[in-house]
Amino acid sequence: MRKATAYHDALGDFFAKHADTSPYNAYTDRPAMLRLAGDVSGARILDAGCGAGHYAAELSARGAQVVGIEGSATLLRHAQARVNGHAELLLHDLEEPLDFAADASFDGAVCALVYEHIRNRVQLLGELRRVLRPGGWLLVSTTHPTADWRHFGGSYFSHDWRDLPLGDGELSIHYQRMPLETFLGELLAAGFVLEQLVEPRPAAGLREVDEAAYDKLHQAPSFLTVKLRRP
Ligand SMILES: C[S@@+](CC[C@H](N)C(=O)[O-])C[C@H]1O[C@@H](n2cnc3c(N)ncnc32)[C@H](O)[C@@H]1O
Repeated sequence: MRKATAYHDALGDFFAKHADTSPYNAYTDRPAMLRLAGDVSGARILDAGCGAGHYAAELSARGAQVVGIEGSATLLRHAQARVNGHAELLLHDLEEPLDFAADASFDGAVCALVYEHIRNRVQLLGELRRVLRPGGWLLVSTTHPTADWRHFGGSYFSHDWRDLPLGDGELSIHYQRMPLETFLGELLAAGFVLEQLVEPRPAAGLREVDEAAYDKLHQAPSFLTVKLRRP
């Protein structure tokens, strides 16, 4: 049986708390992605793999109309509490087509730290392309391939599915490591056009709360973020 990639039960609770303040999510991935999103006022945005709703809440606060989809019921509950009715949230497995969404019905889509968890990425990208309007944007962030290489070792070009332990090691997340060539190649092959690529450094505020993490994340990339357009 295939291993679940959505963060169910205790893993969902752990991630919800982690995403709130972690140097990686709160200070590095989210600020970079939200900067790439730019002015979202009035935009209809799909948050694919919305987790505990951190992006959905922030994008809604900036004036977007957000639909968040998530495969973990645990995280969806966290997201519901966080967005407090200001975004539409659905339980949805991203291995399945986005049947709930009409063609060209979104101005933008966010896929933050989810891509590497998905097996049927060709289908997901095709569906994201279908539901985005022409000229619509797609933001994707992923674990930096060199971070996986540092962590797991072996070949940089490996496409192995790995378990990354979190916290005290009792919980782990399951995802596929991949080289940059695969990550970008898949997005371009799906018909998206690359507009910007960022290797995010942590936001300045991290220095005040965790100087060691700030220094570390300034030296070694943790994530890769891209902004793409649907032609
Ligand atoms: C690292 S978290 C990122 C969550 C959120 N985007 C954020 O950045 O805070 C990865 C998310 O992908 C979700 N996920 C993984 N596989 C999924 C699948 N097949 N369908 C839906 N969600 C999935 C997990 O449940 C989790 O919420």
